[in-house]
Amino acid sequence: MMDFAGKVAVITGAASGIGRGMAERFAAEGMRLVLADIQPEPLEATAETLRAQGAKVLTQVTDVSDAGAVQALADAAWREFGAVHVVCNNAGIVPGARYRPIWETAPEDWHWSLGVNLMGVVHGIQSFVPRLRAQGGWAHVVNTISVAGLVSGTNSPAYGAAKHAALRATEALYADLAAENSPIGVTALCPGVVSTGIGNSERNRPATLVPEGGVRGDDPAMMEKYRGIKAAGLMPADVAEMVVTAIRERQFYLVTTTAFDRGVQERMDAILTRRNPDFPDILVMSQEESNARK
Ligand SMILES: NC(=O)c1ccc[n+]([C@@H]2O[C@H](COP(=O)([O-])OP(=O)(O)OC[C@H]3O[C@@H](n4cnc5c(N)ncnc54)[C@H](O)[C@@H]3O)[C@@H](O)[C@H]2O)c1
Repeated sequence: MMDFAGKVAVITGAASGIGRGMAERFAAEGMRLVLADIQPEPLEATAETLRAQGAKVLTQVTDVSDAGAVQALADAAWREFGAVHVVCNNAGIVPGARYRPIWETAPEDWHWSLGVNLMGVVHGIQSFVPRLRAQGGWAHVVNTISVAGLVSGTNSPAYGAAKHAALRATEALYADLAAENSPIGVTALCPGVVSTGIGNSERNRPATLVPEGGVRGDDPAMMEKYRGIKAAGLMPADVAEMVVTAIRERQFYLVTTTAFDRGVQERMDAILTRRNPDFPDILVMSQEESNARK
């Protein structure tokens, strides 16, 4: 079995949720960590907890939507540890107003979502993969996508479109590396419902991307339902466990649940048979996933 001890992992969005879960799991394997996040205090708190358990941790406040900041993160990682082995492009956000139709999705929501959820992943690929190839030997890139990058239809179009595009970019990375028989593995992590801080993403919206008139929220009853579903989600530690296995097994698509399969199936069937789609609602499939776990 692959020994991770002493290897170096870089994780973006490491201060909370799935990123923090991966940091804890990798630390338990004896890995050295480079943790990045846009929120300095929770980032430092996460690092302190892991250092108290004996882990070697470098932190760097990083906005993944900024290409230069991600380059600086890669510089810092190699400067500190001399090597990088696992890169988790994980930072992500869901703009508020999830349950409004696409024509009510503000341009600022598109800009923010594409900047973080798509370009954050692209910047991670561009800053780390050439250096991983030059370094030589085994490495693995884990890009956090979502089942929202697999299914389609109504709800959170700016999030879903960015995740679909991030998956396409990750598939390109996989294929380009496979074409050169690279020892670098790739995993597209597609979680279903995970109990994290993602529902409170607005805490990280840049002041420059607030729509005129403010962020439009959703119907409170809808949000209450969403919070209930989230609370019954997988724990980040469970996802981190699956990620460790996927890295060891060089598994590309890591979909943490089957609850959204009928959404994938409907989309593919409609495309392949040239008929019009009848997309199952993402919120309904999320509810089904949570119900199955209760
Ligand atoms: N929670 C779920 O149900 C779920 C499902 C599918 C996919 N995901 C994806 O998992 C990833 C992690 O999200 P999470 O659920 O752990 O949420 P979270 O809010 O708990 O954690 C996300 C972290 O990313 C950081 N972040 C936000 N914007 C950033 C930026 N511009 N630069 C750097 N860091 C930034 C936040 O500060 C936070 O610490 C995201 O890509 C998200 O889309 C989550």
